[in-house]
Amino acid sequence: MNKDTLKIISKKKKSKIVCLTAYSKNIASIIDKHCDIVLVGDSLGSVLYNFSTTKKVSLNMMIEHAKSVRMGVKKSLMVVDMPYNTYRNPKEALKNAKKIISITKCDAVKLEGGKKIYQIVKTLIKNKIQVMGHLGLLPQSAKNFKFKGKKLIERKNILKDSKLLEQAGVFSIVLECVESSLAKEITKIIDIPTIGIGASSHCDGQVLVTDDLIGLNKINARFVKKYLNVTKQINDGVIKFKQDVAKGKFPSKKHSY
Ligand code: KIV
Repeated sequence: MNKDTLKIISKKKKSKIVCLTAYSKNIASIIDKHCDIVLVGDSLGSVLYNFSTTKKVSLNMMIEHAKSVRMGVKKSLMVVDMPYNTYRNPKEALKNAKKIISITKCDAVKLEGGKKIYQIVKTLIKNKIQVMGHLGLLPQSAKNFKFKGKKLIERKNILKDSKLLEQAGVFSIVLECVESSLAKEITKIIDIPTIGIGASSHCDGQVLVTDDLIGLNKINARFVKKYLNVTKQINDGVIKFKQDVAKGKFPSKKHSY
């Protein structure tokens, strides 16, 4: 851990942690003022590129978007997702995590999985790389998009994985689509914060995809709350612009040289 990740840990049981995604500078600079963590999530694959799975997201895509986000993030902890097939073994993970951090100047990386990536996470942390865990629904390897924690064996494994990740030294764990009572139990037994998405208010913090929150991305998942309808606002603005252009009202003298 370093002072920045310890600051996130110190929030556990004191105040809720706020985390949102950003894929570029302008959104990053707006949300940075209100977040503890800004995540450059590989959800950008589906949100921006219409990919059917995050498996298609490349290391370069993550790096380019993270470079843009870095320009907007001044105070929050900036975390970048390691995309699919970039951390298949400790050596590969270390090389790619170092590349992400050195080029983007992010503060930490996020990896999906528990027991299977234990040694990989340990290697990164031994090399002073700050790591955020991700358990529950794991989009990079998911066979279906159902919530996790209904079956006893699933509950036991997620619980075990959360303890393992804590032992490995991650500074927090995202719990995605995890049944409420399981999220509550995990949050109680580990000393690092849980950040939920579709994992109930029992978690120490919450993360949402910003494009979902502002109503820019068409998604109907149960865990999404749309706080704004930016799609409508953009549409209304564009209609007004079109009308002004048609009537010769834009540009006026004020907007001309
Ligand atoms: O890729 C992403 O945006 C994420 C969040 C949904 C947690 O991993």
